[in-house]
Amino acid sequence: MDVIELNHRQAKAGILDMQVTRSRFLRWAFLGTAGAALVQLAAALAIFLKPQKMGTFGSMVTAGGVGDFAVGSVTRFQDARFYLVRLPEGFIALYQKCTHLGCTIPWKQQDTSEDTLAATGRFNCPCHGSIFDRYGVRKAGPAPRPLDLFPVSIVDGKVVVNTDPKTAILRDAWNPNHATKA
Ligand code: FES
Repeated sequence: MDVIELNHRQAKAGILDMQVTRSRFLRWAFLGTAGAALVQLAAALAIFLKPQKMGTFGSMVTAGGVGDFAVGSVTRFQDARFYLVRLPEGFIALYQKCTHLGCTIPWKQQDTSEDTLAATGRFNCPCHGSIFDRYGVRKAGPAPRPLDLFPVSIVDGKVVVNTDPKTAILRDAWNPNHATKA
């Protein structure tokens, strides 16, 4: 083997080495890109599949079965900031925020009722003394209007309340059409 042929073989071997290195690089680059894409896909899937926070203020809240609430009952959902009231006309969900200056209004089960559905029970605002009956209608004090309502729907026998404040219904008086029939 002469020197020229030897150089030729070495050069050829060098080119082959470079080709192998390049193809390895491309393979690793492809695997790296595919791996990164898979990780991103898995992260997106995890977010999609993760159970959303339910039952708190601002979300859709399933309060319970229609049969869980007696006519005249007032049930507080503290985290979701509303009272579910079952009336003869259906369900209403009262936003617990006083329509005067926004204090949280407690339900007073033992106080004399302001409506005809029961002998006791009403809302007393601790801040400036507004009083509301179980329909959320103002009976005394500086509040300018009844308590606001959250939309209620009945889904598969369950009472569902939309507690997004943007959906709250402001009203001037009691209107039976505001109640959702069971
Ligand atoms: S905040 Fe309720 S009466 Fe003033």
